Amino acid sequence: MTIEEKLGQLVQLPGGRQKSPNSKINDDERARVRSGLVGSYLNVAGAAETRALQRIAVEESRLGIPLLFAMDVIHGYRTIFPVPLAMASSWDPELVEGAAHVAAVEAAASGIHWTFAPMVDIARDARWGRIVEGAGEDPYLGAIIAAAQVQGFQHGGLGKPDAIIATTKHFAAYGAAVGGRDYSSADISDRTLNEVYLPPFYAAAKAGSGSFMSAFNDIGGVPATANRILLHDVLRDLWKYDGIVVSDWMAVDELRNHGVAADGGEAAVLALHAGVDIDMASNLFVTALAERIRADPALAADLDTAVRRVLLTKAKVGLFDDPYRFSDAARERTSILTPQHRTAARDAALRSIVLLKNEGNLLPLAGSLRKIAVVGALANDPDSELGPWRARGNVDDVSPLLPALRSALPKGTQLVFEPGASPTSPDGTAIPAAVAAARDADMVLLVVGETFDFSGEARSRSDLGLPGAQQTLADAILDTGKPVVVLLMNGRPLAIDRLAERAPAILETWFLGVEAGPAITDVLLGRAVPGGKLPVTFPRATGSVPFYYNHLPSGRPADADLGKDSARYHDLSITPLFPFGHGLSYTKFDYGPLQLDRREVAPGGSLFVAIDVRNSGSVIGDEVVQLYARDPLASVSRPVQELRGFRRVTLKPGETRRLRFTLTPEQFAVWGAGRWRIETGSIELMAGSSSADIRSRGSITISASGEGTAPAAAIPTAVHEERLP
Ligand code: NOJ
Repeated sequence: MTIEEKLGQLVQLPGGRQKSPNSKINDDERARVRSGLVGSYLNVAGAAETRALQRIAVEESRLGIPLLFAMDVIHGYRTIFPVPLAMASSWDPELVEGAAHVAAVEAAASGIHWTFAPMVDIARDARWGRIVEGAGEDPYLGAIIAAAQVQGFQHGGLGKPDAIIATTKHFAAYGAAVGGRDYSSADISDRTLNEVYLPPFYAAAKAGSGSFMSAFNDIGGVPATANRILLHDVLRDLWKYDGIVVSDWMAVDELRNHGVAADGGEAAVLALHAGVDIDMASNLFVTALAERIRADPALAADLDTAVRRVLLTKAKVGLFDDPYRFSDAARERTSILTPQHRTAARDAALRSIVLLKNEGNLLPLAGSLRKIAVVGALANDPDSELGPWRARGNVDDVSPLLPALRSALPKGTQLVFEPGASPTSPDGTAIPAAVAAARDADMVLLVVGETFDFSGEARSRSDLGLPGAQQTLADAILDTGKPVVVLLMNGRPLAIDRLAERAPAILETWFLGVEAGPAITDVLLGRAVPGGKLPVTFPRATGSVPFYYNHLPSGRPADADLGKDSARYHDLSITPLFPFGHGLSYTKFDYGPLQLDRREVAPGGSLFVAIDVRNSGSVIGDEVVQLYARDPLASVSRPVQELRGFRRVTLKPGETRRLRFTLTPEQFAVWGAGRWRIETGSIELMAGSSSADIRSRGSITISASGEGTAPAAAIPTAVHEERLP
């Protein structure tokens, strides 16, 4: 290979835009492929289109190296599933894996080899718009979900015709953006980086993620795309990762804006040397590196390493055996938006819904209602159900709420719809009509929140309240005195203190994808029982973010007593609006005491923690049993709670299940001075229905010190289930 041909393999260019794939494939682009100056494309799709471009690469370029085709297939390709934050609310890794697999089957049939997902960025600040794309605030849940997504996309292993390369992104700490402003700095400690932000990346690497994406942001002044410690020392040396690293869009060129590179050439050198194998979109590797490489043998070695990784990845996917194996028109016709995929999307939507409040058991809706007023423009916004990333999703595929609900209501129950107010306009002139409809009805379904375009990339918000005139609408509707069920649609936690206080029932539905309407209807009517739990804390006010459950205690822990000087706001309650892990059901669950097989454990050993959970209500339902831990006395201050295990179980009325969690001392290791230290002493354990609803406690002792090898939060806890008579 010539240097130019090698560099070509490291170039990824847009073949179109997300909304119009292939639109940039013209004669110039085809000539570029012929000359071997491009190794992969993003935003190309379609069996026929990818086949045509691949044919040029394989038959008309000197070396005949096949291209890789990539796309942001985030939560579905054509069959759109719930947004990732919603999927994480299912606390169901198998479901998450299955959804990613469906996405891969459809994308692969359309010629796509590679997705830019999962996004595993921990997000503690709901102002950050990309919180919608991840699994929320917790590193343990994040690590489990990350691994499940990778396994789903790469189902059966790369090389299978329907397994696509996963991209674990954005490496790293992109979610720690100062002020929640997208792209801004992450100024976090080494401990927070390792204990909170890196575990999901580690879990994804170990699950075999075929690629990683370097982030836009800097960490303490070092841009991730030029961070050799992160991309090389941690990822390659420590984690033994052998996949490819692609930069984020134009991130190589943006090293100039960060102020660490004087020109494109310097930027390209920094990125390649740091460990970026593929430059997405800026084309600087081809335009600015060749001469520098000829002059610098060390850089030439970096180049060869990167090219080797790219070629190996193409080989793993099977492209040297059959470059067209993903571009299969017959498969494309039969495997996209199939009834089975829609069923999977509906199941995912059902399991992602979270019941936040249900005073007086207002839900499920009583069968005796004669007239229901559905109020809020979002009730009639199927487009938003697709979320901010939608690959080839199509609004016409969405089964919307209003018709789904209307057709499911018993004969004799009338449904009227009034938009009232929308998130995108301050206009409140339609509110009186909505109030009149509410007065005339037996109950109101108030649908409020955000449209899809309020979250996602570059969609940070400074105000987490209800946008537009929706709060005015909500107040006016609640003033009617009618029973109100609030249905939230949103891509982030919202600060809706007043609404949550006044409304008797609240259902969190996020953006649920193509089967949103039927799923919400099933839950409203009690044909399905909600069982999701929040993967993020809901704050009471925007001013209190970042607000997360696994914080450090401080020397003066927050105290409800305002007379004491403590770590709190003087003008806000110390509790979250809805805590991490919160979610109600139509039934009730009782927890037995924590049972331990022994109390002491040493590094290398393990012990069992068992807990019996019983459905003491009258309908079948799901509970997510959560196990938290705290190290009360250590060499450094430790979080007040850390999730270390969970299991979603379905229990019939009266049924009891024993869950046995296997814990090891490595799961409580503390990061410091470049290693995972296991310290002696006690660990408090808490099992419960949410981080704030702890039902039973116990403690264990770590009897000897030692050293861990993996991020503590990335070590999965095995859970064994046993039915009890
Ligand atoms: C920029 C985003 O940060 C990244 O997540 C995405 O994969 C790329 N654009 C490509 O669309």
